[in-house]
Amino acid sequence: MRIGILNSGGDCPGLNAVIHGVVGAADQLGWEVIGFRDGFEGLLPPGDYTVLKPKDTIGILKLGGTILGTTNKGHFVAKVGTGDIAEVPAEVVAQAKATMDRLGISALVVVGGDGSLTTGLQLYREGWPIIGVPKTIDNDLSATAFTFGFDSAVSTVVDALDRLHTTGESHKRVMVLEVMGRHAGWIALWGGIAGGAHVVLIPEIPFTFEKIAAYINERDAQGYHSTLVVVAEGAHLPDGHIVTLDAKVAGEVRLGGVGERVAAKIQQLTGKDTRACTLGHLQRGGAPTALDRILGMRFGVMAVKLAAEGAFGQMVSYQAYHVDSVSIEQAVHQLRLVEPDSELVQAAKAVGICLGD
Ligand code: F6P
Repeated sequence: MRIGILNSGGDCPGLNAVIHGVVGAADQLGWEVIGFRDGFEGLLPPGDYTVLKPKDTIGILKLGGTILGTTNKGHFVAKVGTGDIAEVPAEVVAQAKATMDRLGISALVVVGGDGSLTTGLQLYREGWPIIGVPKTIDNDLSATAFTFGFDSAVSTVVDALDRLHTTGESHKRVMVLEVMGRHAGWIALWGGIAGGAHVVLIPEIPFTFEKIAAYINERDAQGYHSTLVVVAEGAHLPDGHIVTLDAKVAGEVRLGGVGERVAAKIQQLTGKDTRACTLGHLQRGGAPTALDRILGMRFGVMAVKLAAEGAFGQMVSYQAYHVDSVSIEQAVHQLRLVEPDSELVQAAKAVGICLGD
């Protein structure tokens, strides 16, 4: 038996751990693993792939990125804007299928986020033996309580906040940190709580600058002259706008710049010296945390188990300390967002964190 694996979409710490898990578990069954390079693109003729043996995965568990490469562009992009889904054209699918058939791939493990799994779902519906593995630092995939990469991203946010804390205190400044998490505030909220932020602004909770300014002024009056603000890149400004960069990637507009906008307004309303910092791709790079290594590895092992059972169209899922699976259909098209009245948000508020509402 021969199975394939590919990573698709943005990279994420823990991808190599999944490869490690897949290759190890497949080897135990006597299966061969073909790793396709640069996502689904590697399936296009003549095929860009490598045979992965356990010796090829030695030491990769601790490495960020992916040894197979990935892309969020190319011929297989399913997401062309918020809510818009494109079908992969029939001739592209046929070319890729020819590579699958030529290599005798009897299961294809697709490690990706919402967009890549949407492509996986299309292929599954067209008869491909697809097994999905959820991946995104944003942690916004429904049907899994956690995606690997999230914990690593949050750790980077916490480290950044620890650093901003000391410089902010020294200068009695307001420090604004812009973090990733396109449509979801998970990274901002988890990172903000763990990193001791005083204000956390997320896409799911509308905020006003007046509320934030009043909160900062109140802190000042109490003798706390420095304030840490975390803002998710996709947070909506009070007028409803999301701040974007010019360039488009894979049809999805690039987000960025809300941190500067928030900082300028806070400075204007409070008169306090305010600085903004954008963490950007530092959140995606570097070594995965122990949690992401273990989660990624377990996801990989479960993907092979699903392949062995012929459970195609299923996606590995993490629920209540247990790695299981759900149908890909159940997992895509609907993002898992922060519930504004959830226990997590209430806990943040209970310890005095301002959500700007
Ligand atoms: O979805 C993961 C993510 O890191 C988002 O948080 C972010 O908006 C986007 O990818 C950035 O994508 P790119 O690497 O194409 O700039």
